[in-house]
Amino acid sequence: MSQGIDDLEDLFDNAPCGYVSAGPDGRITKANRTFATWLGRERSEFVGRRFQDFLNIAGKIYYETHFAPLMRMQGFFNEVALDLVRADGSRLPVLVNAVERRDEKGALRFVRITIFNASDRRRYERELLEARRSAENANAELQELNRTLEERIAEAVEARMKSEAALRQAQKLEAVGQLTGGIAHDFNNMLAVILSALNLLERRLAKGEDISQYIAAANDGASRAAALTQRLLAFSRQQTLAPEPLYANQMVAEMSDLLRRTLGGTVRLETVLAGGLWQVLTDKNALENAIFNLAINARDAMPQGGRLTIETANSHLDEAYGAEHDVKPGQYVMVAVTDTGTGMTSDVMAKAFDPFFTTKGPGKGTGLGLSQVFGFVKQSGGHIKIYSEIGQGTSIKIYLPRYYGAAETRKHLEAKARRRA
Ligand SMILES: Nc1ncnc2c1ncn2[C@@H]1O[C@H](COP(=O)(O)OP(=O)(O)O)[C@@H](O)[C@H]1O
Ligand SMILES: [Mg+2]
Repeated sequence: MSQGIDDLEDLFDNAPCGYVSAGPDGRITKANRTFATWLGRERSEFVGRRFQDFLNIAGKIYYETHFAPLMRMQGFFNEVALDLVRADGSRLPVLVNAVERRDEKGALRFVRITIFNASDRRRYERELLEARRSAENANAELQELNRTLEERIAEAVEARMKSEAALRQAQKLEAVGQLTGGIAHDFNNMLAVILSALNLLERRLAKGEDISQYIAAANDGASRAAALTQRLLAFSRQQTLAPEPLYANQMVAEMSDLLRRTLGGTVRLETVLAGGLWQVLTDKNALENAIFNLAINARDAMPQGGRLTIETANSHLDEAYGAEHDVKPGQYVMVAVTDTGTGMTSDVMAKAFDPFFTTKGPGKGTGLGLSQVFGFVKQSGGHIKIYSEIGQGTSIKIYLPRYYGAAETRKHLEAKARRRA
């Protein structure tokens, strides 16, 4: 029996928390050893004093204004954070629970106060707070860093785009300048021919001499000048097109002699012409001119020789392709000019249709071939696409809208045109 009491006393004394009992008058009757050790005092020092005597000033006020009334009202309080003062004056943060114990008649017997050491918990809370703060700071810094990084990337991209645009603009202006100079020169030469022919014409006419060769010279100069203006109009996509229904196969076949001669001995010409090819409604000269331009480019891309293939096919451009390439979905006649030449870099490919863009040396390229083809195709409601691989070759495909009308002969159309005029 006495052994049991010793056990309980031992538990009371050495529990991991402080125990204090106070009588109905609030005076301490008992304090355990743990509590005494925490405060650096003898257990006997507590007897007859009040719990709040061992709190710091703020705790005392807090106790009187908050927890004493709470005790009177509900008979307990829990987990109240307070600071005890040790014998040496240092503070001990604690969490305090208190509960009243009454007899059957309701008379207050004693108040049991349980005290938990909160220095660990407070430190933990403080560390948590600090950790949270530094995490927030780090986060803010990271965001700031991210923002400046994004800004810098945007700036770099913009600067690069600007300088690229400026470079292209400069290249174009240079090419325009070269071309304008060349054209002015050509025009001058033609005018000189015409003017001197007219001059001689006038004098010989007065003498009653034969003038036919001067008329021929003036005629030649004037028609070459007219051809030049025609080319200029085509570059600016303002050429007057005279569309007629025609079969591209027939046209390619008619051109192949001229093409073979133009391509020279080292380039082999092959034609792959689809059977049952639909008709297109287009300007014959302009289409010939386009094929010719593409063939010349192909030849230039094969200085060591190679193979040039002209292929025709019926083709259907579907919704998806149409949406991606800004062309009306539907049926088209495709004419592809393919070479086994140098190919183009993606950079060259991106600029190839630009008027005056050329990679050929001065006096060799005008940069007006593909832009002229592009202008013609677009003006005809068609589509053009470059496929190219470095070292493998290039294929340029022209799509012209299918002509659904009745197969009228050229003569028929001409008659119609005459009737209309
Ligand atoms: N078949 C091709 N193979 C390789 N590059 C080509 C081909 N066709 C065109 N190019 C490139 O596109 C540029 C523009 O062509 P184009 O407008 O015809 O002008 P030009 O022939 O006067 O240079 C050429 O300078 C060349 O770099
Ligand atoms: Mg060209």
